Order: sequence, then C-alpha cells, then structure tokens
Amino acid sequence: MIKSNETNSKSVLITGASTGIGKACAVHLSELGYQVFAGIRQQKDEHDLLKTSNNGLIPVQLDVTDTGSINEAAKMIQTTLGERGLYALVNNAGIAVSGPIEFIPIDDFRQQFEVNVIGQVAVTQTFLDLLRKAYGRIVNISSISGQIALPFLGPYASSKFALEAISDALRVELRPWGIPVILIEPGRIATPIWEKSLARADENIRGLPPKGKELYSQIIDYARKSMTNPSRTMLSVESVVRVVEQVLSVENPRARYAIGRKTSQRILLFKILPTRLRDKLMARRMGMK
Ligand SMILES: NC(=O)c1ccc[n+]([C@@H]2O[C@H](COP(=O)([O-])OP(=O)(O)OC[C@H]3O[C@@H](n4cnc5c(N)ncnc54)[C@H](OP(=O)(O)O)[C@@H]3O)[C@@H](O)[C@H]2O)c1
Repeated sequence: MIKSNETNSKSVLITGASTGIGKACAVHLSELGYQVFAGIRQQKDEHDLLKTSNNGLIPVQLDVTDTGSINEAAKMIQTTLGERGLYALVNNAGIAVSGPIEFIPIDDFRQQFEVNVIGQVAVTQTFLDLLRKAYGRIVNISSISGQIALPFLGPYASSKFALEAISDALRVELRPWGIPVILIEPGRIATPIWEKSLARADENIRGLPPKGKELYSQIIDYARKSMTNPSRTMLSVESVVRVVEQVLSVENPRARYAIGRKTSQRILLFKILPTRLRDKLMARRMGMK
C-alpha cells in the first residue's frame, strides 16, 4: 500500500467514472491521496459520485466522443492544475456491443469504435502535453477481449484489439519522453457493462429481420444464457483497482497486466493452439457445428 504523502501532489484523470471500474478506481485513488478528475458523461452522476468520496475527487463532464466536451474538460483541468502537469490518464470509458456481425446495426458498430477506440485516442492527444509536464503515464483499460475474439462479441473484441495495437505503437512513440503506456487486460468483471450490453443486444434481436431470426435465434439463445449464467465466475472490481494502484505507484510499470489467473492461462492457450483447433473448440463449446 502506498502512503498518501507520495500521492497527494499527483493528479489523475479517469474517463468513464460514473459506474464500475472507473468509479471504483476514482474513489480508491482519491482515498489514497491522489487528486482525481473523474470523467462523467451525464450530469446526474455527479451527486452520486461526490457522495461516495472525499475532497480529492473532482467530477468533470467528459464525453469521449465529443470534441467540445474533451476540450472543455481539458481547459478546466489545466486551470485547476496550474503549473503542475497530469501524472496519469486512465482511459477507461467503454461500451460493449455484442451479437452476430452479419446483423449488427452498422451505427452500433461505429459507436463501439467511437467510444472504445477513437474516443481514447482523442482524449490521449488532448492530454499529452499535460502528461509530458509531469513525466506522467497512460493506462489503457483493455480486456481479455483485446487478445481473444469470442464469437458474438466481435464489435467489442475488435475495438479492444485496436486499442492494444494503438497502445503498442504509442508506447514506442513516447519512449523519448519516458511516458509509459500500460495495457490492463481484465477477464470478466462484475460491473453494469454486461447488463447494458445485453439490453442493447436484446433490442437488436427484436429488430432482426425474419431471416436473421431464422439463422441465429438458437445460437443467440445459447450465447445469452451462457452470458447470464450466474455460475460463471466474475472477478471483482477491486481486482482491477489493485492493479491500477500498483501501475501508478511502481517506477517501471510493465506494458501489460492480465487480471485473473485464468485470464493469463486463456490468453496463453489461445496463442499456442492452432487456429483451426481453436475455432473448433470454441464452436463446439457454443453448441455449433
Ligand atoms: N466488466 C468487465 O467484465 C470488463 C472486462 C474487461 C475490460 N473492461 C473494460 O473496463 C472499462 C470500464 O467498464 P466497466 O465494466 O466498468 O463498465 P461500466 O460500469 O458500464 O462503465 C463504463 C463507463 O464508461 C462510460 N462511458 C460510456 N460511453 C462513454 C462516452 N461516450 N464518454 C465517456 N464515458 C462513457 C460510462 O458512462 P455512462 O454511465 O454515462 O454510460 C461508464 O462510466 C471498459 O473499457 C471495459 O471495456 C470491462
């Protein structure tokens, strides 16, 4: 555990801090003594966030898909920091679009990339000067889905693969200034993201054309049941919070942190299995041919 006198001059911006991982990190880091700018998309979440935290937490209106909103947030943060730079940017905001790629509404696919990919880049570009000032670091919340693409999670997985690629390129580009770019790859974590994803998927399923229903309804039922199966183990948000705390406090953070023992094992297995065998096993697991 780090001491508050090591953290209280350090400022961190976390995007998507209204719920789940972002909120838990914001509250915990502010309790450790960091000055936390907690990005929220909707004004209604400000009160709730302030109720659960101490003085070190400053809510900031921030929609990562809206350039005006990013610029306003940057202006406010820069004014608050004065001559100090930003010690860390945690790119956490995210959504999960799921369903058969053949029938995902193309606007949903675009939104998946706007939030999880373009939004992260836009925020990073805007805050890099402030990060440079403080010899800061960038923490990108990726996922096991950034290493393994499961069927019916295609939009989400492809967005996290893109985030991994961007982070790998950026890490080398920023070496001259000693700004580490760190990827966090959690397995399934108990947060509202999956309910939100299911609600959107259900809406899309209702809107499927008759052909789509005929082709996919059986497998969608199966995927839905397996996603909501209470026996499927989920990790707690605290497991991510602990890693974010560590990543912010160690001198030389690693490039990647997979969260959960099974997550690391699955990633390794996925990499060493021949693609044909991998596909067959995955399809069989989902009751497909
Ligand atoms: N839960 C998991 O199993 C899991 C596993 C691996 C990785 N992750 C990643 O962890 C991150 C956080 O997810 P979570 O599980 O904590 O889900 P969550 O509780 O749904 O949190 C997502 C956050 O992103 C915000 N957000 C969505 N669209 C945004 C936008 N356009 N601009 C700014 N903020 C926006 C949400 O705000 P609103 O409330 O206003 O929508 C919310 O605060 C995501 O990047 C996710 O991919 C999650």
